[in-house]
Amino acid sequence: PRVAVVFGGRSSEHAVSCATAGSVLQALDRERYDVIPVGISVDGRWVLEKDDPERLAIGAGKLPEVDEKGTAVVLANDRGGELVSLDPATVPGTLGEVDVVFPLLHGPFGEDGTLQGLLEMADVRYVGAGVLASAVAMDKHFAKLVFSGQGFPVVPYTLLKPGAWEADRSACEEAVASLGYPVFVKPTRGGSSIGITKVSRPQDLGEAVEKAAAHDPKVLVEASVEGAREIECGVLESLDGGPPRASAVAEIRYGTEYEFYDFEAKYLDDERHVDLALPAPLDEKATRQVQDVAVRAFEALGAEGLARVDFFLRNDGTLLLNEINTMPGFTPYSMFPRMWAASGVDYAALCDHLIQLALR
Ligand code: DAL
Ligand code: MG
Repeated sequence: PRVAVVFGGRSSEHAVSCATAGSVLQALDRERYDVIPVGISVDGRWVLEKDDPERLAIGAGKLPEVDEKGTAVVLANDRGGELVSLDPATVPGTLGEVDVVFPLLHGPFGEDGTLQGLLEMADVRYVGAGVLASAVAMDKHFAKLVFSGQGFPVVPYTLLKPGAWEADRSACEEAVASLGYPVFVKPTRGGSSIGITKVSRPQDLGEAVEKAAAHDPKVLVEASVEGAREIECGVLESLDGGPPRASAVAEIRYGTEYEFYDFEAKYLDDERHVDLALPAPLDEKATRQVQDVAVRAFEALGAEGLARVDFFLRNDGTLLLNEINTMPGFTPYSMFPRMWAASGVDYAALCDHLIQLALR
């Protein structure tokens, strides 16, 4: 099968997506798959990229980017139907037909249902969640409504609508104070902790709101679940149509170097001060509970293919659903492939499974 690996994109997670794609390009079985790397530049240009995992690696002092000077492309489905030209300024080259797209995009314009909608329109198969599940999961506010509406405990929050801070600052301050400090201030639609600040004092709120709003005018403020453990679990759909499967459960641990699991801790710390307990030191009952809730959350969202489900576990045993990522990172540092490796599904087998699911 011909697989278009699509990566980069217009979101702030462009570099993470490149790193994810680099790892996937390296892992895909070339005897089995005809792989076409397609980069989307930071300003949205679709280009044929070099098949060069090394160039796409991420690390301290290196944030990879799609080279926008490549040949502009359009995609076609396996019956020759072409997607509309995505770059009308140039005469597009065509890739020919592809059997499946592996959309390795994180964040808005890719993980949020937009690309999925484009592929649905063109009748091209793709890996992962569809339009609605992708869109809901990307919007932390709507995700909370969907999850709490179906009985999943979520972290208490307040939403600052676009312009709310400028319009009535004291009302915002009051709403945030009622959560109790510290809080996390986040762009509602984002990822990889970009634009997130942990705020411990009311006087620091304004700056954090501005920083988040630079990424998304919709700003979410969440209570900090102090003392809670950060737990993650992968979910994979089954090829035989059986129920989705949960991976081994992981716990994220970071020393005093970091106030929270931020972008630097996730990707740039070459000394890896952030550690991962895999499997998480939980008793069997708690482990099973995490796995069960992960699968139920996947189903409640209507996700497809894969997801990484993130939780906070309180000392009293309460499990709070933090978020679902419908295209979790696949970089060498990323939790999703590591959790599956610990469950007996290695990186190459994982990629293979995902493509096979999409080709069904
Ligand atoms: N948003 C990043 C890529 C993740 O969830 O892994
Ligand atoms: Mg996320």
